[in-house]
Amino acid sequence: MKLANPDLLKFQNYIDGAWRAAERTMAVCDPASGELLGNVADGTAADAEAAVAAATAALPEWRRRTAGERAATLKRWYQLIVENSEDLARILTLEQGKPLAEAQGEILYGASFIEWFAEECRRAYGQTIPTHNPAMRLSTIRQPVGVVSCITPWNFPNAMITRKAAPALAAGCTVVIKPAQETPLSALALCQLADEAGLPKGTLNVVTGSDAAGIGRVLTQDPRVAKFTFTGSTPVGKLLMAQCASTVKKMSMELGGNAPFIVFDDADMDTAVKACMATKFRNAGQVCVATNRIYVHQAVHDEFVEKLRSEVAALKIGHGTEAGVNMGPMIFRRAVERVQNLVQDAVASGARIELGGEQLPNGENYFAPTLLTGVTDAMRIATEENFGPVAAVQKFTDEADVIRRANATPYGLAAYVMSENIRRANRVVEALEYGMVACNTGVFSTTVAPFGGNKESGIGREGGVEGMAEFYETKYCCFGA
Ligand code: SIN
Repeated sequence: MKLANPDLLKFQNYIDGAWRAAERTMAVCDPASGELLGNVADGTAADAEAAVAAATAALPEWRRRTAGERAATLKRWYQLIVENSEDLARILTLEQGKPLAEAQGEILYGASFIEWFAEECRRAYGQTIPTHNPAMRLSTIRQPVGVVSCITPWNFPNAMITRKAAPALAAGCTVVIKPAQETPLSALALCQLADEAGLPKGTLNVVTGSDAAGIGRVLTQDPRVAKFTFTGSTPVGKLLMAQCASTVKKMSMELGGNAPFIVFDDADMDTAVKACMATKFRNAGQVCVATNRIYVHQAVHDEFVEKLRSEVAALKIGHGTEAGVNMGPMIFRRAVERVQNLVQDAVASGARIELGGEQLPNGENYFAPTLLTGVTDAMRIATEENFGPVAAVQKFTDEADVIRRANATPYGLAAYVMSENIRRANRVVEALEYGMVACNTGVFSTTVAPFGGNKESGIGREGGVEGMAEFYETKYCCFGA
């Protein structure tokens, strides 16, 4: 891999401020071509324990620093990430597959968490509470929760790390991260820059490895870890939550979704189609907040489908580093097979393929951007998160009915509403049982707002003031006069 700054390419674990080899290595490959990118440390539970020990030892000194001192170090990290953003984007595209422009966007999105939380930690105010007893003085102070462990996903190998690590570090916590096995290089490159920025040894640690169960057990059960944070699927999240129960860890869980995208007959069709393209085909549909069920009012169904069809047909598919490509491969073969299965199941139950519907000859991980119509709520494509480039369209006629259908899922992460009628838009946004609702846009993620889900889509929020609060304990202090 050719980089302007070859120091960013690291293959060993980053523990206690040092690069450490593991006993074994694991291959990291480009999902577009299958080409070997490098052999990375295949860490074990013992490596995770060493990382937790380092984070525990580093905690007293880091939490003792003033918010201003921590902010200064984090801002240096932010600056280095921005300066190296082209290389970081290249690493990300090669190990994950998304087009370079999207990867570049992710690097800046990821960096923005570091800048924002560096600023926000200066405002960790406590309160003076009007007392219930003249002989007592009551107040609260906020203190870092302690050592934080994180398991991060392959779909956003940079931003899902910084969205967790930045507020944790800013609050005065120390951090241990296990990145996804498929995308460790982005995590290790971030460590190299954190090291250059002067983050003290042991403050940030990364253990890469294929033993998800063994490493995961340490991160969820070690009594020295105070808080665990995870982005990934709901079934895995439930398992990890059960493991965290043994030591009553604080938890933040950003889990699966089944996002409805509702197009009313008073929507602006161009806005609706643009929003749908953005939420459905970003990262080849491998996004937790990607649209999964598209409900279109019967009166505008055909117009919407025609416009969507021409946008989908215009997508250029290929290797993420090629100019003009706007959709790359899926992450691995399993993901392609799963999407293929869901499409076949929908077709067998009466759905119609308007476009795509099959694997592409570009390579084994490519699936064609797909448009299905005639989908129903009973089909697996509507009840399961497809996590792929498949737009599955259904019809509706009645507002109350579509709200009921949109809410009829155990998930509650993100939802989308397209309407030019402000009263209806307000009504529907409020009625949807989701942690995030976007109206007349398909892009809403930002550092400054809380990201997270209701129901089985998660616990807690990332980003915004809520994302900062996740890493503090509030201590109530009562002084007798
Ligand atoms: C995710 O898929 O979990 C992250 C998506 C985002 O931050 O927009």
